[in-house]
Amino acid sequence: MSSDVAAVAPPLTRREFLYYLWGASIALFMAEMGGALVWFAFPRFKEGEFGGIINVPIADIPPPDAGPKDFPAARIWLVNIGEGRLSDGRQPDEYAIKPGVKALYKICVHLGCLYKWVPTNDRFECPCHGSKYLTTGARIDGPATRNLDAFPFEFVDAQGNVLAKSGLMGSGKVEEGDAVEIPEGAVALRIDTGQRIQGAPNTEPGGGT
Ligand code: FES
Repeated sequence: MSSDVAAVAPPLTRREFLYYLWGASIALFMAEMGGALVWFAFPRFKEGEFGGIINVPIADIPPPDAGPKDFPAARIWLVNIGEGRLSDGRQPDEYAIKPGVKALYKICVHLGCLYKWVPTNDRFECPCHGSKYLTTGARIDGPATRNLDAFPFEFVDAQGNVLAKSGLMGSGKVEEGDAVEIPEGAVALRIDTGQRIQGAPNTEPGGGT
């Protein structure tokens, strides 16, 4: 008799077939769950909408010491701190400020109301519990316990080259950032509304209205 007859695998039993089918279903389910987790884990903000990069033409930035400019869709008050603001006696001494642009988040850092710009008092005021802030972002009164939050940004030229940026752009840090003056040749400001910078702690004077 010949001994080189090829061995033939026995057919799957019904039990084995169901076992493999069950395993494949579990593997498929896990792969779908993994994909869903990745989908939800990464933000999907488009450029130009809140949560993504907001492009602001230089012409839309208010002049130094003018009132702030409202960008409702971006949830930003854009301010330009000039020499007049630097010498504002209401500015708390412990928060050194620089001239230039800041992109302030429009939400009050106390309990989340929308604060307003009040030109007659030359300051932001929150209608909910009376916190008050200067255009530098400094809290000067009310129950809030820190300065306003802001967003990091960068100035770019017509080719998209970065000419200057706030110290925190892309850094992942959350400390209060400095203002940055508009550099020569800048055509646009790019604000990253996906990376909020927390205002510095500030509780003096406290509890006013
Ligand atoms: S939410 Fe603005 S002062 Fe309370």
